[in-house]
Amino acid sequence: MSWKAHENIEITKEVLKEWVNSYVNKDYYQWGIVVKQTNELIGSIGIVGNIENRLICEMGYCIEKNYWGNGYVVEAFNRIIEFLFTETNCNRIEAVHDVDNVNSGKVIIKCNLEFEGVLRDRGLNNDLKLIDLAMYFLLKRDYLRK
Ligand SMILES: CC(C)(COP(=O)(O)OP(=O)(O)OC[C@H]1O[C@@H](n2cnc3c(N)ncnc32)[C@H](O)[C@@H]1OP(=O)(O)O)[C@@H](O)C(=O)NCCC(=O)NCCS
Repeated sequence: MSWKAHENIEITKEVLKEWVNSYVNKDYYQWGIVVKQTNELIGSIGIVGNIENRLICEMGYCIEKNYWGNGYVVEAFNRIIEFLFTETNCNRIEAVHDVDNVNSGKVIIKCNLEFEGVLRDRGLNNDLKLIDLAMYFLLKRDYLRK
């Protein structure tokens, strides 16, 4: 992640308040991920930054460790791909991960994004260390053709 884990629940509550307040902007795309059966909030997924007025959307996501390995992020990510390409003017979805964060790469591949290359020293992790980023993309026309 590019940011450190929240140190306490109050910080999380503040962040969530800020997100909810931002929903007045129609193109603010940040969602919570909940377990359907229990409605428990376990993580988040959304669009990072505002590239070319949302013609290009970069995905960012994380869930709590105890819930890893259940395919939750893939399920959420796939629904957002459908939303962005059928209900907004987004033309390109992209996602990057630290080359060492293999699990994140698996999520992206399972969502049928295509590997585009490795961007050397392109990112900073939450220890402010330079990292290589693997870049993936999916275009609207390719998605709609399938
Ligand atoms: C990366 C992350 C979002 C994956 O979400 P997820 O819902 O667990 O995704 P999946 O269930 O599809 O699992 C992805 C892969 O990770 C593997 N995995 C998940 N938890 C694991 C664990 N504890 N130990 C080993 N492998 C694990 C799964 O087996 C799966 O690999 P497979 O397809 O070969 O079986 C989640 O691990 C996470 O939130 N990590 C911390 C934040 C982060 O890295 N965000 C992305 C920044 S780019």
